Amino acid sequence: MLNRRRMLAVGGLAAGGALVWRARETTSAEASVPSSSVSGHHAHHADGASPSAGAAEPTAGTGAPPPFRPFSQRLPVPRVLRPVSTMGGTDVYELPLRHAETEFFPGRPAPVLTFGGEFIGPTIRAKAGRRVKVRYVNRLDRAATVHLHGGHVPPDSDGFPMDLIEPGQSRVFDYPNRQQGATLWYHDHTCSREAEHVYRGLAGFYLIEGEDEAALRLPRGAYDVPLMIRDARFDENGGMIFEPSPMPTTLHTNGRLQPYFPVDARKYRFRVLNATLHRIVELDLGGLEMVQIASDGGLLPEPLPRKKIMIVPGERVEIVVDFSAQAVGSKLVLNDVYDGVSEPVMRFDVVRRARDSSRVPGRLRELPEMPAATVVRDVKLSFSASGEEFAINDRTFDPDRVDTRIVEGTTEIWRVTNTDPADTPFGPVQHTFHMHLVPFRVLDRNGGPVLPGENGLKDTVLVRPGETVRVQATFSGYKGRYLYHCHLQEHSDIGMMAQMEIV
Ligand code: C2O
Ligand code: CU
Ligand code: CU
Repeated sequence: MLNRRRMLAVGGLAAGGALVWRARETTSAEASVPSSSVSGHHAHHADGASPSAGAAEPTAGTGAPPPFRPFSQRLPVPRVLRPVSTMGGTDVYELPLRHAETEFFPGRPAPVLTFGGEFIGPTIRAKAGRRVKVRYVNRLDRAATVHLHGGHVPPDSDGFPMDLIEPGQSRVFDYPNRQQGATLWYHDHTCSREAEHVYRGLAGFYLIEGEDEAALRLPRGAYDVPLMIRDARFDENGGMIFEPSPMPTTLHTNGRLQPYFPVDARKYRFRVLNATLHRIVELDLGGLEMVQIASDGGLLPEPLPRKKIMIVPGERVEIVVDFSAQAVGSKLVLNDVYDGVSEPVMRFDVVRRARDSSRVPGRLRELPEMPAATVVRDVKLSFSASGEEFAINDRTFDPDRVDTRIVEGTTEIWRVTNTDPADTPFGPVQHTFHMHLVPFRVLDRNGGPVLPGENGLKDTVLVRPGETVRVQATFSGYKGRYLYHCHLQEHSDIGMMAQMEIV
């Protein structure tokens, strides 16, 4: 059951719109939060449902966060998790969910929720066609679950929001990897707690390498680097504040604020994930070309050179950046320039010359055939009738209700429309659309062309106010219940989520 109080606490046009509004431009944001919303939130804290002491719940202070120097911390690359067994064609992993601390501000340990003790969980590297099993051991003080975003997995391994792993319990999830190479990520999916759990750290990368990839000779090994872009607000002790509100957030990458990354003067493959709760980012590397090679579902048919790349929450974009023309000693800042603002994400410091036998071939991977669709459905993303929650087709999430029944193997077109306003005091109410189980193709936007990079396999897509995005998917492989939802997790937490049952 959804926590009603929490839904009301963050609901309403003002606060709801605020969830997608980046308040960097305004300093009096606090005053514009309706008091009912504020008191509702505090009521939530008092009702005992919020994390207990010792959990990652800082005392939200009023002071400014500690000062920090940009580009003073090195970008960590999450460690690659080692399997506990590789027998019988299956890689078996064990991954505890546990409380830990991280230092966003040097010398200021902040409590976080983690996979494996690190704020960005360890990376699981899988191979297409080779099965992985992960035993998740919940050592947290609360129930949680794990969803493999982009994974083609059986329903009982999909991390259903009510099907939780209780504290002290463990569960084995089955990831057959019968899908193409792609950048996936695992994250918590606990009903109405997902936004907070993910915000506080429950996320990591899961990379599937395709059988076709070695022959392409893309940059690999130390030159294949995942970048998880997230955002947070901090209290005066450097701890995280989780409070859905129109307050400015700061970006952090792989768990560090505006880190620097020493690079060789050669090509790198970066797998960029926007894991913020509700911030759209648009990357700009000072005009340097970023060659997009993959989207959510894997490699594009051909590389796409880009100067700016917009990434919405939940989306992945893989790029190859060639630093070989950069002088040793040069420093290149990667900025978020979405909506005309410029905020540093991180900096690449070119430290030495290097040999480079990698390349970006002109053809990467053919897209699978698209069978003709036999069913067309409408999916409306909007505030609920009360205006206090978010809904899909006017209904808020009910774990006991199946919203869409699909015959296994059917190809369908879904017309996904955002009917929310473009002109609230907090800016446009953006939504995204994410589907579990299978990737889709983006057919068009309001009947016109799709955005750059959207012609490959996708599982998460931006839907702007007034926009109808048509997507097409073939629902094959497994029967059972799966979710579709907005991937602004504060929206899905308060109702913008629905269920399909493949029968
Ligand atoms: Cu990354 Cu159901 O989501
Ligand atoms: Cu997902
Ligand atoms: Cu939304």
